[in-house]
Amino acid sequence: MLYFSIRGTWFAKCRVIFCVNMSKPILLLTGCNGLLGQKLLATLPSSLPYTVVAISKKSPQVPLPTNVVYCQLDLTHTVVVEELFENLRPALVLHTAALTLPDKSEQNQEEAYLQNVTVVESLCRLANLHHSFFVQLSTDFVFDGTAMLLTEETNPNPINYYGQTKYLAEEIVKNTPISWAIVRTCLVFGVLAQPSRSNILLWVIRNLQAGNPINVVADQLRTPTLAEDLAKGCWQVVLAKATGVWHIAGNELMSPYQFALKVAEVFELDATLISPTNAQEFKEIATRPLLTGFNTNKAQELLHFMPTPIEDALRFCKQMIDNTQQVI
Ligand SMILES: NC(=O)c1ccc[n+]([C@@H]2O[C@H](COP(=O)([O-])OP(=O)(O)OC[C@H]3O[C@@H](n4cnc5c(N)ncnc54)[C@H](OP(=O)(O)O)[C@@H]3O)[C@@H](O)[C@H]2O)c1
Repeated sequence: MLYFSIRGTWFAKCRVIFCVNMSKPILLLTGCNGLLGQKLLATLPSSLPYTVVAISKKSPQVPLPTNVVYCQLDLTHTVVVEELFENLRPALVLHTAALTLPDKSEQNQEEAYLQNVTVVESLCRLANLHHSFFVQLSTDFVFDGTAMLLTEETNPNPINYYGQTKYLAEEIVKNTPISWAIVRTCLVFGVLAQPSRSNILLWVIRNLQAGNPINVVADQLRTPTLAEDLAKGCWQVVLAKATGVWHIAGNELMSPYQFALKVAEVFELDATLISPTNAQEFKEIATRPLLTGFNTNKAQELLHFMPTPIEDALRFCKQMIDNTQQVI
């Protein structure tokens, strides 16, 4: 492991583990240990005209592609982040890091504000200073749940604290004089060797494999998104430097209950363990919007984004688990 300091002040906090040719412009990828971050690294386009510097708070959770520079730092340490920008002058920032748990955000509002709003404020200020193109990841939880198959034109109206912080972040991005893109997505699922946290697919598989009965909400509607599809959509935005808001998601509207039944079918697990419930009965700390799900026509037409049909996506995930004999 190579400890590397661009300037002495962030020596202790920032560890660059692989050194690569820095002759290409820099793309700063935040949240690379997360579900999306890991998939972005796994789907790096060969034509990418950037050197990727990947940031996360913990040490790298999976082996990194050899051409990626890893930098372990906490984005809330503004001075360190300023030093990083000064030294790397990134041409593009792909900001996926966030406090992504709605219930934790509801209970720890100061932390959620710091991670999801203050960090974006400081990154946008630095992107403005260094003329970086800025890509912000956002969520269907910026909407209130009164309409489904939302387009990029639908007005946000968040109903929980996580949604509020992500909406505030969107507004900061839009109101900074930089070139920007906002990528909104919905109910992301996927298989990871080292999951940063669980997701609906892993939760259903784990419980059904263990023979645990589960109640799954049947009156919320979403467009579940394969993490690899989201990563590819993000790369399409990056490669095209496509400004504006983009809805990148699956294109089949279904409830989490219907999704769980499909998981049971594809993974040949006991579907009788799955019972439908409704949002009123299935109490969660943060209120979830009832109806969301995205219309992805804009991304399909302009970026040639093509979401994988759900059953194919689940078969792909099963293949991944079978191939790696992964324990879920
Ligand atoms: N997953 C979904 O269903 C979903 C739905 C809609 C929108 N989104 C949005 O998509 C984006 C990616 O989500 P995800 O599911 O990939 O999230 P995730 O799995 O929770 O990963 C987020 C990563 O961000 C990193 N991080 C958090 N705070 C940090 C900090 N202060 N400094 C450095 N790194 C930090 C964490 O790194 P360490 O692990 O190293 O601590 C974590 O691995 C988020 O912006 C989220 O709001 C996700």
